[in-house]
Amino acid sequence: MLKQKPKTKILVDGGDPAETERIKSLIGFVDGQTTNPTLIAKNPEVQQRIASGHKMSVEEQHEEYKSIVRKISPLVGDAGVSIEVFSDLNTTSDQMLAEGRQMFTWIPNAYIKYPCTHEGLKAARTSVQEGLRVNITLCFAQEQAAAVYGATQGTKAPAYVSPFVGRLDDRGEDGIDLVKNIQRMYKAGDGHVHVLAASIRSVDQLLACFAMGVDLVTVPAKVLEAWAAKGLTMPQADFNYRGVTADGKALQPIPYRELDLSKPWESFDLKHDLTTKGIERFVADFEKTLKQARVA
Ligand code: E4P
Repeated sequence: MLKQKPKTKILVDGGDPAETERIKSLIGFVDGQTTNPTLIAKNPEVQQRIASGHKMSVEEQHEEYKSIVRKISPLVGDAGVSIEVFSDLNTTSDQMLAEGRQMFTWIPNAYIKYPCTHEGLKAARTSVQEGLRVNITLCFAQEQAAAVYGATQGTKAPAYVSPFVGRLDDRGEDGIDLVKNIQRMYKAGDGHVHVLAASIRSVDQLLACFAMGVDLVTVPAKVLEAWAAKGLTMPQADFNYRGVTADGKALQPIPYRELDLSKPWESFDLKHDLTTKGIERFVADFEKTLKQARVA
């Protein structure tokens, strides 16, 4: 059990309520949870249904997603449960919004996840105006985070932006730098966007988030278990994060950029190849369960 709750809220990055319960008893609490199509496809019950040859329709899959988040919802604290809308590269903001509105009714502590694209931010803009809580996912650049800031202005609850650390590291760029840069840029703002470090792959990255005082961090159960195996220790004052590749080479630093948060959100460049790839991967994982079920 963790003796003192850190400033950084801890979320479980997963799609299995049993895992959330396990982490809760290990640490003593779970502040929130993030889910996504890949994680839901990996849920043991979903896997079992596929293996048994059950033909799942899109509606049934939605029901399954709803039932999973309903089990997770009462287990977590005030950081809520993030639920991701379906979005491929052609999904319009109206389509995302319609799904987001529906998903928001599933549980009392929902955060609706929209991709960090022009259409995703348009949907998020209307969502916050309607009082929905949002989490903007697949953020890989400081400029995208600047757009999130503008698009979510006026939100009642804090909006989340999710920079993906691990996927930047995977291609040799220091993902922790992006989190740091967004935090620094938001210091000039009004605090309505909270930084949620995502795609965490190691205990060191988790400790770096604690050391930086990131608002929230979402972490796979296996990384939290590895942290628990090390005694749930918090970083010392002299903790120094060193981003390295799998083969030990130093990661490429991501430089800070001076960006004006008061500019209209549409004026920022939202394009990033990893956002596009991320959307494609989520779509493939979402459809995998359906296709396999149909073949069976
Ligand atoms: C959380 O919101 C993200 O979907 C998640 O952290 C993605 O992590 P991955 O890069 O390990 O898939």
